[in-house]
Amino acid sequence: MTARFITFEGIDGSGKSTQAKRLAADLKADGIDVVLTREPGGSAGAEEIRRLLVEGDPDRWSGETELLLFTAARRDHLEKTILPALEAGKTVICDRFADSTRVYQGAARGDLRAVVDQLHALMIGREPDLTFVIDMDPSIALHRGLARASGEDRFEDLGLAFQEKLRAGFAALQSESPDRIRLIDGNDTPEVVAQTIRSVLHTTS
Ligand code: TMP
Repeated sequence: MTARFITFEGIDGSGKSTQAKRLAADLKADGIDVVLTREPGGSAGAEEIRRLLVEGDPDRWSGETELLLFTAARRDHLEKTILPALEAGKTVICDRFADSTRVYQGAARGDLRAVVDQLHALMIGREPDLTFVIDMDPSIALHRGLARASGEDRFEDLGLAFQEKLRAGFAALQSESPDRIRLIDGNDTPEVVAQTIRSVLHTTS
């Protein structure tokens, strides 16, 4: 497998972070040079911006301000972590990327998709080679997410209706880019979900 940029997406509590970690560990065990990273975050500057975004009152920022902060974090992450790793021939596995902005800020928080797309074209301009969206029942996922009480619950605190909008948003995005985005049923055990991801990865290598 050549160096690829692979992202994991899904609603809060979908199990995507577990799957991203698992895939990174599996590929490393196969001798592949892997960088596992996340958004918002993944570089020193972007991790600082992360705290502004995931902590505090849900009304702390408007959808527009959030979009600018996520884009600033992504630009730093891209410059400092993602592009250098890809250029060095490493496979990058990223827990969330631009599809989260398309769905959270572009569709669920407000109707900002056109602005999201413009800002992406101006400041990011890079798509993953392959994206796994872990699809999950929002009521189960939300329960899981909030049960973690991570102190990073700003988006979980927007409630079940918000998570349902997100799920629909990810499904719609998948039909916009069916070659790049693969919808994975996350309602199974983590082992079964991981096997499905591995088999999709092999068929797209
Ligand atoms: P995480 O819980 O997967 O680390 O993500 C943090 C939160 O930030 C999560 O609720 C999703 C949200 N988010 C956005 O709203 N827009 C984005 O562009 C990204 C990357 C995350």
